[in-house]
Amino acid sequence: MDNKHYLDSNRDLWDRLAPLHEQSKFYDVDAFRSGQSTLLDIERQEVGSVERKKLLHLQCHFGLDTLSWAREGADVTGVDFSSEAIDIARLLADEIGISAKFVCSNIYDLRDHLTGEFDIVFTSGGVLCWLPDLKKWAEIASHFVKPGGIFYVREFHPFSNIFDDENEVDKPTVRYPYFHSDKPMRFENEGSYASSTSDVRNISYEWFHPLSDIISSLVGAGFKIDFLHEFPFISYQSHPFLEQGSDGMWRYPESPNSIPLMFSIRASK
Ligand SMILES: C[S@@+](CC[C@H](N)C(=O)[O-])C[C@H]1O[C@@H](n2cnc3c(N)ncnc32)[C@H](O)[C@@H]1O
Repeated sequence: MDNKHYLDSNRDLWDRLAPLHEQSKFYDVDAFRSGQSTLLDIERQEVGSVERKKLLHLQCHFGLDTLSWAREGADVTGVDFSSEAIDIARLLADEIGISAKFVCSNIYDLRDHLTGEFDIVFTSGGVLCWLPDLKKWAEIASHFVKPGGIFYVREFHPFSNIFDDENEVDKPTVRYPYFHSDKPMRFENEGSYASSTSDVRNISYEWFHPLSDIISSLVGAGFKIDFLHEFPFISYQSHPFLEQGSDGMWRYPESPNSIPLMFSIRASK
């Protein structure tokens, strides 16, 4: 099967998940409506001031992070290939009176649907596993970053992705590959990380990308890496053996600094 089949299938899945996520406790849209930001502190600190800057958010889902950046003063454009997610994002923006542009497009086709250059291209939290080709991803990101601008990604660490996240294991247990394969892994679950409903039979096709591929694709697309940071905590319970701390982050309690669970990269052009 070619990648089109996998991407079409994933897009159908995200179309079904978007309205469920909008209603979910995980995304807590009411808290967002009442002014809470969905951005992580590290994202705000590491991206820096976005005041009056043009920000492009790749794989924006239904727009909560995009709109949170707008509340920080950015002129925002969000992109996602799920039309359901984009419809919700536009309605939310209207409802709360935030000016934002949302584009429905596969990011691999984005040059056909969006023009202009941005001070900041941002993406975060569960994005890379949906992408078969990181070289093209980095080229698209580079295309939209203006000279002197930055690209920023905050993502779940690929090393942590090798561990079993489905069975009730109380210790990190290797289950998945670290390195990339052109053929995606097929997963079948009920619901999603944000919605436990069994109404959605969740078949997804996902690709693993080692850190070396992520860095090399950005360098290959002409970026200079400003920093790569690795964090021994993560923003949600990605694995059953993690425990939540008083700061809201999840760690491996037995050895809190032993496993990288998230990373961030800022790169400039
Ligand atoms: C886990 S969500 C991102 C979550 C986001 N960080 C948040 O919490 O709102 C992944 C998103 O990527 C989008 N996506 C996946 N593959 C894509 C592609 N090729 N082009 C555009 N969007 C894509 C999905 O529709 C989904 O909204």
